[in-house]
Amino acid sequence: MGGFPLDWLDLRAPQDRKSRSATLAARFAAAVAGAHRPATVLDLGAGAGANALYLAPYLDRRSRWILVDNDPALLQMAQDRAAGVGLAAEILRLDLAADLGSLSLDRAAGVSASALMDLVSGSWFADLAGRCAAARLPLLFVLTYDGRLAFSPADPADGWICDGFNVHQRQDKGFGPALGPSAVSEMARILADFGYRVDFETSDWSVTTEDGDLLREVVDGVADAVLSVRKGDVPRIESWRGRRHAEIADRALSLVIGHADLLALPPV
Ligand SMILES: C[S@@+](CC[C@H](N)C(=O)[O-])C[C@H]1O[C@@H](n2cnc3c(N)ncnc32)[C@H](O)[C@@H]1O
Repeated sequence: MGGFPLDWLDLRAPQDRKSRSATLAARFAAAVAGAHRPATVLDLGAGAGANALYLAPYLDRRSRWILVDNDPALLQMAQDRAAGVGLAAEILRLDLAADLGSLSLDRAAGVSASALMDLVSGSWFADLAGRCAAARLPLLFVLTYDGRLAFSPADPADGWICDGFNVHQRQDKGFGPALGPSAVSEMARILADFGYRVDFETSDWSVTTEDGDLLREVVDGVADAVLSVRKGDVPRIESWRGRRHAEIADRALSLVIGHADLLALPPV
């Protein structure tokens, strides 16, 4: 869960696809189609292209994608995967944290991002929102973590672990202090200030007892994140990790992670 290796993105992709809102995807596609035809959509923090691959069937088949990321290996994979399904996609290597100002919106009919917005800061997001509002672009930001981690069965340390994880989620991920668990409400507030009409749907992950690989990765990611912010509490954190690993091995652990999808439409 730390960083964005391809293995992690591929492990989470099926869960993301199951969880995200088809309704908001369809409404975004309709708004994009109304803006230009054929449409060009920007995918920010595109990774290996999962968001574009999910959204493509909703869009006109002549639509084009600009996949933006700062990781060249992920971008190459995204381009290969897009080509594999006949998607017209170009890649743009850009550090969005440092160089948002150089991102051209000239060709864009819509902007989307998946699993990115809890990493960014409020001021960075306001900058992006202001530029998108000026260009009157529809926006779809999906799978934003909202601060909820609910393990089943519950463990006495869960609340403390979740608090530590959320402290970590607010730390700087390169864009300034991260919005973390407040991302969804802060995005809505900022977008409304720019005149956007904002809708949400929950896109919670429901990770079942049968999803052992994903559960192990999440438990380790959470434990490592808490270790980094509560350095004096190693035994308590490792003991929680050990209990959770034993439950995963017994197919006894399941997990809900709170996420939301957000659609923002410019004023008519
Ligand atoms: C959680 S991953 C999501 C990837 C993809 N959207 C998905 O849903 O599978 C976050 C992505 O943001 C990218 N990213 C993080 N910081 C970035 C930055 N400063 N500039 C550009 N991309 C960045 C990472 O390389 C990674 O691909």
